[in-house]
Amino acid sequence: MATHLTNLGSLLSWDSKERCIKTRENIEILLDDGVIKEIGDSTEKGENIIDCSQKLVTPGFVDSHTHPVFLCGREDEYRQRVSGMSYQEIAESGGGIQSSIDGVRNASVEELRERVSNRMDSFLELGTTTVEAKSGYGLSTESELKSLEVLDLVSRSHEIDIVPTFMGAHTFPPEYSDRGTYVDLICEEMIPAVSEQGIAKYCDVFCEKGYFDLDQTTRILDTGKQNNLLPRVHADEFQDSGAAELAAELECVSADHLMAVSDIGIRSLAEKNVTATILPGTTFFLGSHQYAPVKKMVERGVSIALATDFNPGSSHLQSMPFVLVLACLYLNMSIEEALIASTWQGAVSLGMERQVGSIEVDKKADLIIWDVEKPIEIVYSCPGAKIKHVFKNGNQIF
Ligand code: NIG
Ligand code: FE
Repeated sequence: MATHLTNLGSLLSWDSKERCIKTRENIEILLDDGVIKEIGDSTEKGENIIDCSQKLVTPGFVDSHTHPVFLCGREDEYRQRVSGMSYQEIAESGGGIQSSIDGVRNASVEELRERVSNRMDSFLELGTTTVEAKSGYGLSTESELKSLEVLDLVSRSHEIDIVPTFMGAHTFPPEYSDRGTYVDLICEEMIPAVSEQGIAKYCDVFCEKGYFDLDQTTRILDTGKQNNLLPRVHADEFQDSGAAELAAELECVSADHLMAVSDIGIRSLAEKNVTATILPGTTFFLGSHQYAPVKKMVERGVSIALATDFNPGSSHLQSMPFVLVLACLYLNMSIEEALIASTWQGAVSLGMERQVGSIEVDKKADLIIWDVEKPIEIVYSCPGAKIKHVFKNGNQIF
């Protein structure tokens, strides 16, 4: 059934032909067959007419960095952090990513499927219409494949678009006292199996002191590339370890976090056109003050995407509207820059900019109708303005 959105106030989106941010006033949009058919002053009428009362329309969010395949939350760890322990101290004492492993290993596919599906409902309600989702809490061949199978099952039954990433290199599981042996397992068993099953598009590594070093990261991402998995990397989150330079050298599509990135790292990302995926929700949720130096990166020509990093430990938040609030307050991005970074640039980093990430004819009808008129009102209302309607593939979600 064709849907006719009338009486829209303004539309804010990237324009891929003119390669700039575009705002259009007083427009109408026709959605049909899951795509945007017409955008104009007065479009052909559809059967389903929705009066948008002069409100703002933006593309649905593309959240290009999440870890949604876990069983339970880690509230006890949160309690420890509130009483003064740092995320790193908790991780060193056996908590952190380690404490999510048993949950995933012992869960059935069905249990995980239900949890992940519910999380996808929440993403959609918050306006996220495309989400990148990583495995990485199983850390055995069987449990990593199970995590990716769960994502595959959910993406077949759920309206949201899910882009799967293999992240067996999230940390070292406790049974591997010899770290090299676990890297062997990733490269010799996990990556070939993931690739053979065709259940992931990307390979990601947590390249950080105490996790995977530069040589291990190189080996894993190179093996991924040889097996048709494109490289993304968690880089310079807590300390500068030269991971941003490595991301450029390995031609990663994205380097993520970058709270501690160096000037040389920034230059390397710009030179090789690696998207910097910035996750201010993590800084916030960790109670840290070290936000990534986005202004400097933009001045030096780095493309910025914004995402949630949704996970049970360091960023238990799914709201892209709240990420916009943080981006404006702490990354000094304008609301327009932040909106493009969380829609268009996220889509670019996922190689999906022809289908999603902007409001243009023939693209997927993935839209948010906000309960505000001007973009700045989205972030002026903390933790992010109300959403009136979300459309995914032309279907009204709520
Ligand atoms: O992106 N940085 C690595 N991994 C996650 C943390 C995951 C966890 O604590 O469970 C992150 O912040
Ligand atoms: Fe992450």
